Amino acid sequence: MSSEKTNQSWGGRFSEPVDAFVARFTASVDFDKRLYRHDILGSQAHARMLTQAGVLSEAERDAIVAGLDEIRGEIEAGTFEWRVDLEDVHMNIEARLTERLGVVGKKLHTGRSRNDQVATDIRLWLRDEIDAILAELDRLQAGLLQLAETEADTIMPGFTHLQTAQPVTFGHHLLAWFEMLSRDHERLVDCRKRVNRMPLGSAALAGTTYPIQRQVTCELLGFEAIGGNSLDGVSDRDFAIEFCAAASLAMMHLSRFSEELVLWTSAQFQFIDLPDRFCTGSSIMPQKKNPDVPELVRGKTGRVFGALTGLLTLMKGQPLAYNKDNQEDKEPLFDAADTLRDSLRAFADMVPAIKPKREIMREAARRGFSTATDLADYLVRKGLPFRDCHEIVGHAVKYGVDSGKDLAEMSLEELRRFSDQIEQDVFAVLTLEGSVNARDHIGGTAPAQVRAAVQRGRALLARR
Ligand code: ARG
Repeated sequence: MSSEKTNQSWGGRFSEPVDAFVARFTASVDFDKRLYRHDILGSQAHARMLTQAGVLSEAERDAIVAGLDEIRGEIEAGTFEWRVDLEDVHMNIEARLTERLGVVGKKLHTGRSRNDQVATDIRLWLRDEIDAILAELDRLQAGLLQLAETEADTIMPGFTHLQTAQPVTFGHHLLAWFEMLSRDHERLVDCRKRVNRMPLGSAALAGTTYPIQRQVTCELLGFEAIGGNSLDGVSDRDFAIEFCAAASLAMMHLSRFSEELVLWTSAQFQFIDLPDRFCTGSSIMPQKKNPDVPELVRGKTGRVFGALTGLLTLMKGQPLAYNKDNQEDKEPLFDAADTLRDSLRAFADMVPAIKPKREIMREAARRGFSTATDLADYLVRKGLPFRDCHEIVGHAVKYGVDSGKDLAEMSLEELRRFSDQIEQDVFAVLTLEGSVNARDHIGGTAPAQVRAAVQRGRALLARR
């Protein structure tokens, strides 16, 4: 059978064309075409290097570089015809280059393979994605600092087991999210270092016989280092797994944050209001205003965990070096990056618009014996051992539950029934302000500490 009916890139040794369904089944162009910009960048750097290596003439290089620029223009104008029979983004672009340039186009693939090409493309693509994600993280963190500063004095109940525990400031609570996101930022910056290593030059698996100069492509493409082993270069997807792991942690944080926003906007809490533009209504219950953005982010978290599990499973059974299995790396990776980026964007837009309902938060902190620990600490300062103080306050709380009184609402006589060490000065520690102000150390909830932490946070963002 003539080779025209077989694939033009590798049809030479085939005697019949690929089955039509198999061609669709094995093709990746539907999803990997989004790598086109990075594929073209990689090819242009490769062509430039081949000229320095004496493999391509300067005229051939210039034709290839210009031709690829024009192909990018066609893709962006929507006039490029993506062909499933050409399998993937790499062969689609190369075939079009050959269509435009003739024999010169066919020289581009000298000294490389799709195996190192695709590994290079994904790394270049992911590097850009990480940068965009880091920018959204910055924006969200700056918004949290702003809100934390405004709400440094706002008192709310702090919870353990979702039971009122001790009063905290809302600013302090917001800064807990800031801390988590700072760790996410660190992880992504660290992951980026390992993303930014160059597999190009590994060729199919063993390197190439051409006198390639990998340092040249490395510099042209802005990679930090050259992959040190060609077999590893074409088959390593650790960087994608690592990204999905960092993305999973970040999504887990956003999901917890979402859960709190859902609780706080509910009629049962009413701690905050989200502006209408971040919510939707119900088609049958006119009173509803649903916190859709947080709920959706919480729900989307599962996709990113799925991507991580999918990629780990994809890799675990693969012998060296490249296997077609690796084509399955792209969809989960793309989806994880898109999901994290969009979720961060939604949060960065939404967080500065959170409207706290300060009176309701304060009332909730006042109820629930949130200053019980403060009373115990007060008795410790009067010389009693902490365990006895715990017991004494426990009795006072029981009395409060039975009589419907909060600790601060009891008279001095009532309080002295539990310990004669209690004096008039107790009321200063039973107030909410007294309670939060007393936790005045690095990492504590006192308003002064919140303001100091906001300053530290701003300095951190400025150093990035
Ligand atoms: N579409 C392929 C992928 O995504 C490109 C590399 C193909 N290499 C090969 N030898 N079939 O992994």
